[in-house]
Amino acid sequence: MSGGPGLPVPTLPAPPVSVVGLGQLGGSLAGALAAGGREVSGWDVDPSARDAAAARGVRVTRELAGVVVLAVPLPAMATALDDLILDPGATVTDVGSVKRVVLDTVGAAHGRRFVGGHPMCGTERSGPDAVDPSLFAGARWALCLEPATDLARWLRVAEVALAVGAEVVPVTAAEHDDAVAAVSHVPHLLAAALAAAAAEAGPLALALAAGSFRDGTRVAGSDPAFVTAMLAGNAGPAAAALARLRQQLDRPWPDLVAAGHAGRAAWSRGTAPGRRTVRVPLDRAALLAVGRSGGAITRRLAAFVEGWVPDDAADG
Ligand SMILES: NC(=O)c1ccc[n+]([C@@H]2O[C@H](COP(=O)([O-])OP(=O)(O)OC[C@H]3O[C@@H](n4cnc5c(N)ncnc54)[C@H](O)[C@@H]3O)[C@@H](O)[C@H]2O)c1
Repeated sequence: MSGGPGLPVPTLPAPPVSVVGLGQLGGSLAGALAAGGREVSGWDVDPSARDAAAARGVRVTRELAGVVVLAVPLPAMATALDDLILDPGATVTDVGSVKRVVLDTVGAAHGRRFVGGHPMCGTERSGPDAVDPSLFAGARWALCLEPATDLARWLRVAEVALAVGAEVVPVTAAEHDDAVAAVSHVPHLLAAALAAAAAEAGPLALALAAGSFRDGTRVAGSDPAFVTAMLAGNAGPAAAALARLRQQLDRPWPDLVAAGHAGRAAWSRGTAPGRRTVRVPLDRAALLAVGRSGGAITRRLAAFVEGWVPDDAADG
């Protein structure tokens, strides 16, 4: 049986999901899937994270099958599966904030079973207390398509992201790391610099700090170990993005302020652009073209996926 054009695929049994690391990202994902009726299991080295996940309907086990999601801190990615039992047919993915280093370690170990991913959501909080099953709703979820990626496994992971309300952005690991250097890693460095400089300015400055300071420094509240690992894993692109930012700071201030205002407006439009629906064949080049245009995949249909590109995106 197959769905005709435009019809959703007839329901096939969705593979189970196993989540390793049940903190903010992993606990939120497992909780969202369990709430949606998906079979979901998980493991964490921290008993309190295991207990919190179990209370949300997650089966706690060391045996992993189906789509196995690594949601541990970046330094633990390469070894997180060492003491666990992995079904040989499992597809392995991750939610790490950098993609090339995970591809070089976890990807090298699991070959075509591996599909790298990065949901663009989360807060400066961590651990099971930061779990929020609605975290992924409306978020973009970068999903890596390398030349050797198995498209069937890529789709299996994409369907997990879609199931929790995210939109899937097809990317390569290299393109992802360059992009997040500019929009995530440099903001972390800027937030740190701003907070450190304000602290040096003294108690009066801190007493008067309000909205601009709060918004500009929010991510400086993140666990320093998490941020340091993220920057270390993407040092080259982060340094290049920081150099571009330094050039901006050297511009005459009126020019800088005007360009920043325009850039922020472009971002606001990009978060909710005019959308043109597109049907995309399950083909790496076609999928990557959606991501590069600023679009995303929103659902799976029979022989293709459906998504959108900005109104003004070029055809092809
Ligand atoms: N926090 C964010 O904003 C954010 C956003 C997107 C992606 N990420 C990525 O998600 C991953 C997890 O981040 P988080 O914010 O959920 O962190 P977190 O600290 O909230 O959760 C990590 C969990 O992993 C567990 N853990 C550590 N080592 C483990 C191991 N070897 N085996 C099993 N469990 C282990 C910890 O006990 C903890 O419960 C990181 O790789 C991070 O780069 C984070």
